[in-house]
Amino acid sequence: MLSVKIASIRMKNPIMPASGTFGYGEEMADMIDISKLGAVVTKSTTLKPRKGNPPPRICEPDAGMINSIGLQNPGIDVVMQEKIPFLLKFSVPIILSISGSTIDEYVELARKVVEKDVNRLVSGLEVNISCPNTEKGGIAFGQDPKIAAKVVGRVKKAAAPNLTIIVKLTPNVTNIVTIAEAVVLAGADALSLINTVKARAKVRGMDETWLNGGLSGPAIKPIALRMVYEVAKANLGVPIIGIGGIRNTTDVLDFLECGADAVQIGTANFINYKVMIEVIDGLRAHMVEKNYSNITELKKGLKDGSER
Ligand SMILES: Cc1cc2nc3c(=O)[nH]c(=O)nc-3n(C[C@H](O)[C@H](O)[C@H](O)COP(=O)(O)O)c2cc1C
Repeated sequence: MLSVKIASIRMKNPIMPASGTFGYGEEMADMIDISKLGAVVTKSTTLKPRKGNPPPRICEPDAGMINSIGLQNPGIDVVMQEKIPFLLKFSVPIILSISGSTIDEYVELARKVVEKDVNRLVSGLEVNISCPNTEKGGIAFGQDPKIAAKVVGRVKKAAAPNLTIIVKLTPNVTNIVTIAEAVVLAGADALSLINTVKARAKVRGMDETWLNGGLSGPAIKPIALRMVYEVAKANLGVPIIGIGGIRNTTDVLDFLECGADAVQIGTANFINYKVMIEVIDGLRAHMVEKNYSNITELKKGLKDGSER
């Protein structure tokens, strides 16, 4: 009933965690039934291990959260050897988020995944060209359509035909549709949006300390909805994964109505660790109540207003 297909990835429902808010699933495995999720999206992984940024790394302005983690992760070798095999037992598609500070690093990451993943355990790569919290690379790749296309074209070549390529877009641009078009032309199989919004706030309890980082949570939901809506309206022919401030089933319905095919939930996991499971149940209950037999019907009902 809830199943969706994101490019060639079949998911039993359209709900997955947003990169960086679920680690590699190890901590969450004790708290929720990961096998109920539509897919798992890992923390963004780099070629070499990264310690991340010094503290403070998070703060809580009104209606959201600012983070500047700096892509702390154990590096692709450990992820392929230890983290991916751990996730395997849940039998959900695994989407590995990758991030580089040069184009060659992205390509090398894709090559390593193809080379080490002999049993095809990973279904797709989410190419993070939108992290605002690293000195080199990250967001800079996602802000220029030519560079974004180059990253995606080369990653696609290295990963094809094994891996679905999802490209994660930044909201910190003048026109997100221009970037979306460029990466789809370069071979992106799906788009995910949005990453965090560049922001600055004083850290509570640390009087004079300011944090520059990425804003997430309810504060960015309207921004994300507008961007999903604009990209969907451009009819690029690839699925859209909506991200930004989702806390409940109503939020998910809003994203579907604006054109998303699936969604990711990030910050809300820190406030209510059961949120993804609750939203999956809520979505199912909504569909039963309104007599929809699949997500396509639900989206149609939401769009043509027959629900209201
Ligand atoms: C603590 C934290 C760490 C994050 N780390 C990553 C990351 O490694 N890679 C990435 O693509 N996005 C990362 N994000 C961004 C989220 O995946 C998501 O795009 C963003 O937070 C918006 O969704 P939300 O409002 O539901 O949190 C991170 C967000 C937070 C709050």
